[in-house]
Amino acid sequence: MTKQQTWSQRFESALHPAIVRFNASIGFDIELIEYDLSGSVAHAKMLAKTGIISNAEGEQLVNGLEQIRLEYQQGLFVPGIDSEDVHFAVEKRLTEIVGDAGKKLHTARSRNDQAGTDTRLYLREKIAQIREQLREFQGVLLDIAEPNVETLIPGYTHLQRAQPISLAHYLLAYFEMSDRDWERLGDVSKRVNISPLGCSALAGTTFPIDRHYTAELLHFDKVYANSLDGVSDRDFAIEFLAAASLIMVHLSRLSEEMILWSSHEFGFISLKDSCATGSSIMPQKKNPDVPELVRGKAGRVFGHLQAMLVVMKGLPLAYNKDLQEDKEALFDGVKTVQACLEAMTILLREGIAFQGDRLAAAVTEDFSNATDVADYLATKGVPFREAYNLVGKVVKTCLLGGKLLKDLTLEEWKELHPAFETDIYGAIAPQQVVAARNSYGGTGFDQVRKSLIAARDRLSD
Ligand code: ARG
Repeated sequence: MTKQQTWSQRFESALHPAIVRFNASIGFDIELIEYDLSGSVAHAKMLAKTGIISNAEGEQLVNGLEQIRLEYQQGLFVPGIDSEDVHFAVEKRLTEIVGDAGKKLHTARSRNDQAGTDTRLYLREKIAQIREQLREFQGVLLDIAEPNVETLIPGYTHLQRAQPISLAHYLLAYFEMSDRDWERLGDVSKRVNISPLGCSALAGTTFPIDRHYTAELLHFDKVYANSLDGVSDRDFAIEFLAAASLIMVHLSRLSEEMILWSSHEFGFISLKDSCATGSSIMPQKKNPDVPELVRGKAGRVFGHLQAMLVVMKGLPLAYNKDLQEDKEALFDGVKTVQACLEAMTILLREGIAFQGDRLAAAVTEDFSNATDVADYLATKGVPFREAYNLVGKVVKTCLLGGKLLKDLTLEEWKELHPAFETDIYGAIAPQQVVAARNSYGGTGFDQVRKSLIAARDRLSD
């Protein structure tokens, strides 16, 4: 057993090999290497600018760090478990490359503020990517919605047929959810983009550092005002995972509908071969694996959110090793959301086809126009509650006679209430039922067309 190199001389003997593995984060925090290098470049430049190291040393450090970046990109730098984490790995390699100057890089800095800096740089970039993906997803929703303003689908409450709606209106609901997701991530980003660099271990440093300069070099909006808070805050990670969880909630709800709708019972959509899978035993089957996986993966992201909340709740200030747990939660949360957004975007774009015949039949073969009969009477002066009760009776009569509302003769209508005229047939036709719901935000075609234009505008902003 060899003694670990990086710690001070106070250590007499080596770490137990199992504890080396237990303690190490290099297996996953290697994901941060590009951000770690950028953070170190900024730190080295600051050390030189403030005269803490010489300009020549500063240059050596920056060049050495950039060399490591190249080595990593070319697959030549593969640090092992003996490096413990990405920060030690880089420092060790830097010292191999530039010699003694490398040992000066860690002046006025700790791995505590360094890890926090890297994680924020990583998350800032990932949030920007996820927001792009959300925009793409929204674009696909609009692509399908625009030619389908007058395509009708049954609208549900309690998963019971309620009132028919425009397919575009349905898709716009998901557009709105995704828009909030996009905004929410923008808001989270503001709190991700604060620099903890220079908070050092917990208390700041005796060196005349310039935290604002490193923040500027790394494009942070501002710096943490309190060093204890700076090294121990993970609010930003929790906020991200909460925002990511909501994205997953939305994708999962959409998935559930795609799964139901592709079933034989609904038959509202069919799955194209590019996005469906078969069964190993039942040759007739075509399975909606994509939305099922998205629905299933939602749980992982919620789990990471829960895990981070629990990690933080009893943690005394300032840094504790528990905080290392933030990485896998974030990395997997990011990867899961990105993969699910990509898959759902593809599924919508090319993996499903709406079954026009089934949808048309669905909106004419039920009583989802019953409210419109009540509304009809109400506009003719019958109090709504009275009209509602009467239509309840009408539906019951129809059910007994195996009829739909549209099958009643004018005489039958008039027997039920003298206010009915021939225009009742127009009023309960599905197209009219939907077109008439023209209140702001409703499914009426004019409203939906306006919403589509506004939605496109938001995307192009
Ligand atoms: N690998 C550590 C982490 O991710 C880096 C910080 C370690 N700091 C310490 N004082 N042991 O949190």
